[in-house]
Amino acid sequence: MATADDQLIQDNVDLIREVFLYANRFRGKRFVIQIGSELVEDQWFPSIVRDLGILHRAGIQIILVPGAGKRIDEVLHKYGLPIVRKGTTRISDDEAMPLIKMAAFDVANAVLTQLTSQKIDAMIGNWVRARAIGVRDGVDFQNAGLVAGVNEEFLTKVLAEGHVPILPCIGWSATGKPYNISSLELAATTAEKMKAEKLFFLDDDLEFDAEGHLLPPDGVLVKEGRITRMLARSAASFAETNDNLDDLEYEIMRLGSHAALHGVQRVHYLNGMVDGAILREVFTALGQGTMIYTDEFEDIRPMRSEDIPEVLRVMEPSISAGILVQRDEDYMLRMYEHFAVYVADGAVRGCCALVPYGSQHAEIAGLAVDQNFAHLGIGNKLLSYFRNVAHERSIRHLFLLTTQTGDYFESIGFRQASLEQLPPERQASYNPQRKSRIYILPL
Ligand SMILES: CC(C)(COP(=O)(O)OP(=O)(O)OC[C@H]1O[C@@H](n2cnc3c(N)ncnc32)[C@H](O)[C@@H]1OP(=O)(O)O)[C@@H](O)C(=O)NCCC(=O)NCCS
Repeated sequence: MATADDQLIQDNVDLIREVFLYANRFRGKRFVIQIGSELVEDQWFPSIVRDLGILHRAGIQIILVPGAGKRIDEVLHKYGLPIVRKGTTRISDDEAMPLIKMAAFDVANAVLTQLTSQKIDAMIGNWVRARAIGVRDGVDFQNAGLVAGVNEEFLTKVLAEGHVPILPCIGWSATGKPYNISSLELAATTAEKMKAEKLFFLDDDLEFDAEGHLLPPDGVLVKEGRITRMLARSAASFAETNDNLDDLEYEIMRLGSHAALHGVQRVHYLNGMVDGAILREVFTALGQGTMIYTDEFEDIRPMRSEDIPEVLRVMEPSISAGILVQRDEDYMLRMYEHFAVYVADGAVRGCCALVPYGSQHAEIAGLAVDQNFAHLGIGNKLLSYFRNVAHERSIRHLFLLTTQTGDYFESIGFRQASLEQLPPERQASYNPQRKSRIYILPL
């Protein structure tokens, strides 16, 4: 009998597999990481930097964009200057600008110092071009600027040499005039321009829960109340339909969905106060925060013979529990062409087969979802996929046999049927000992 220790070792082995899978996947890729100003000044910041060191040593190219809002507020307050904002944009006059610049570089320096303590080579630079926001709706934004571009060539060189570039929230016009820019916008634009694999927004209490929000009808996955994933287009509509989002939440959702729709593979929102938040998000499948993805991430594709070991791994718990009939490598070698797999981040997380009987009937078989990915809608997606396939092939009746999962299939429209309703060939191979129930979905 497996002991608690055996279980712990097994869990660790599973975790190590997962970590290596992701570590290999991300080597040489670029991550742009925006860190909220509260977090940069927090006592836990060194532990975040330690985790960034791990990413850096794993061969990931990191660009850091620290927010300086808190520090700027402190400095302006100290010198008796007003603090004026419109949404997430600070409106700053000529008198405040030298202090803002000083505070922004002060924060960048603090980040550089922390990186140095982790033996990571880092650089602060003037790689950002900016232009004035100007006057909008009668409001003069004065020295607040928009990101006009980043020096991609130079950043590429800095990254290739193994440095971590740090971008303070200051940009310069073509004539050298400095502007205060939003670190959120800077991170998102840099991620797009630098073709980053991932863009992170890390803050001290950032969490998107399902409760209290209007969720778009599709493309949203929720686990234990947390929105774990949203399709980029769903994230855009989430930002527009939820007027209870605060300015920061709205802005990062808007920028994040834009970045995801413009080439950034994934955008992640994380509560940086959770120990190891960024490592959990990068190296484990379900992560810790909320992720924006494009359709490409969750993929259903026909199974290939090299998927056999992974498919058997996904099925194994259901086979051991007697829910699925025994399947081995020989069976899979004969049948894999009838299967489709659901792949997330390069690993198989679900499988299902459609086995034709004559031209009118087909059986849904071998449906299984990785237990760590249960209740995320993967089962439903695989079934919808095969419903479409069946439709395209003019199949009239989908059927399946199950001993324990009847409720699930009934909930999605299957109805219980009798043995006589199956095609004769399948009636002949029905195993009466197993006493499976028969379900049919007329199409
Ligand atoms: C059945 C199975 C494929 C569902 O996959 P899934 O991706 O977790 O399911 P979805 O997320 O698409 O659907 C979830 C909903 O289906 C229902 N559901 C899931 N599993 C169920 C089950 N075993 N019995 C009854 N209802 C079930 C629940 O209502 C659930 O809603 P919830 O998330 O709000 O609780 C998965 O649980 C599995 O692999 N089971 C073991 C193998 C099996 O039974 N295969 C079918 C044999 S033919």
